[in-house]
Amino acid sequence: MPTRLTRRDFAMTAGGGALAFSASDLTGQAALAAADTPTATSRSFPPGFLWGTATASYQIEGAVKVDGRGASIWDTFSHIPGKVRDDANGDVADDHFHLYRGDVGLMTALGATSYRFSISWPRVFPDGRGAPNPKGLDFYDALVDELLANGIEPFATLYHWDLPQALEDTVGGWQSKATPQAFAEYAGYVAARLSDRVKHFFTLNEFWTFIELGYGYGVHAPGLKLPPGELAQARHHALLGHGLAVQAIRAAGRPGTKVGLAENIGVCVPAIETPEHIEAAKIATRELNAGYATAMLEGRYTDAFLAAAGADAPKFTAREMQIIGSPLDFVGINIYNPGHYVRATDGEPGFAAIPFPASFPHMQSDWLRIGPEALYWGPRMLHEVWGVDEIYITENGTSSADVPADDGIVYDTDRIMYLRNYLGQLQRATAEGVPVKGYFLWSLLDNFEWADGYHNRFGIHYVDYATQARTPKLSARFYKAVIAGNAVV
Ligand code: NOJ
Repeated sequence: MPTRLTRRDFAMTAGGGALAFSASDLTGQAALAAADTPTATSRSFPPGFLWGTATASYQIEGAVKVDGRGASIWDTFSHIPGKVRDDANGDVADDHFHLYRGDVGLMTALGATSYRFSISWPRVFPDGRGAPNPKGLDFYDALVDELLANGIEPFATLYHWDLPQALEDTVGGWQSKATPQAFAEYAGYVAARLSDRVKHFFTLNEFWTFIELGYGYGVHAPGLKLPPGELAQARHHALLGHGLAVQAIRAAGRPGTKVGLAENIGVCVPAIETPEHIEAAKIATRELNAGYATAMLEGRYTDAFLAAAGADAPKFTAREMQIIGSPLDFVGINIYNPGHYVRATDGEPGFAAIPFPASFPHMQSDWLRIGPEALYWGPRMLHEVWGVDEIYITENGTSSADVPADDGIVYDTDRIMYLRNYLGQLQRATAEGVPVKGYFLWSLLDNFEWADGYHNRFGIHYVDYATQARTPKLSARFYKAVIAGNAVV
């Protein structure tokens, strides 16, 4: 029976007068052992709403040379001096490959009902294609069994950026049509093997990020800065990989297997909530996501997108667009910030995106602008613009300057503030009938944050990388209360 927090649970610190939980209440796992009861003013989510956390293979697994795993472009990139902050890499990361049972235990302690993880393509196909590695899926088989044994529904992402290096070397990765083809073969193979237990598959994660940062700006693997026309073609190939994988999963998966995508759409927030600005935000949603989400959800590039690209527009066939637009069962969106604030243009159909003022607030990273309403408008736009009726928030969270206090606990009130406000807006969406079915907090653990290395901590569990000890932060306790109440607390 959960107990209500009483004054006994709090103690005034001697010096500053700040409130603190008593140390005995919050040591290690004890931080999660206590239960916090939602208040009468809690705002509820629909019954059966799924609560989970999200991670990705290269960011947490480590064990990069175990059981025949091939190299990925992130192994290569992170070992080039100067590419990643502090020259960090994912060789060990959270060693989740060996510690996964305990990590599922952390989820159980939260009361989580789902978990989104990604499968490492080079574990399964060390060369990206050809013969599968016989031991390649063993780890995921065991992970999925462990999740199901603990009542946690697995959601698997097939591509979270760890492209097999062999494909980069032999065909130029996403620059070639051979890569979407290979991706579909891998996706079908995994679906055939896991769909007896995994019912939801995401094709690729954050198309925008891995293409623009990896092939455009050169700050993510493989570190290329392609000219615009070639970049447009790489984008198109990622979309094609998605469409081909949707078809392969449908062909190979057991009946009832569902497939969707996980994209960080640019969320368009109407600057003022009046019909004309909301309408403008809808138009903006299609046009400002035209290179990725719109293409996949409509099977076409918009006229404005093609006109703006001009001679640098991607080359494509009608058949390819049909494949790219293959019907989906659900759509996942990763939302950290508002992409654009949008206003109506006086008297004319259309929209204007408003530049962010320099004073716009953000979390630890400059890019992580604080705009909780993105978690309302993102799903509402998906539903109203494209008619999506099964939506998951596949990532939401923040990094913080997390430092354990003397009692070992990270009192990450900024993360709690961030989550509470974003969840409040998500609750508003569900209360208004927007069909959001689940939420995956990024992330279960502190982990390898790509070019930022281990500097940016996104976890609700603090990881001591020297010992691999995991300690729940105060935000884990907050999230546990949210899950227990199925409500914003
Ligand atoms: C989105 C990416 O999918 C994930 O890998 C990353 O760690 C988070 N954003 C935070 O930047």
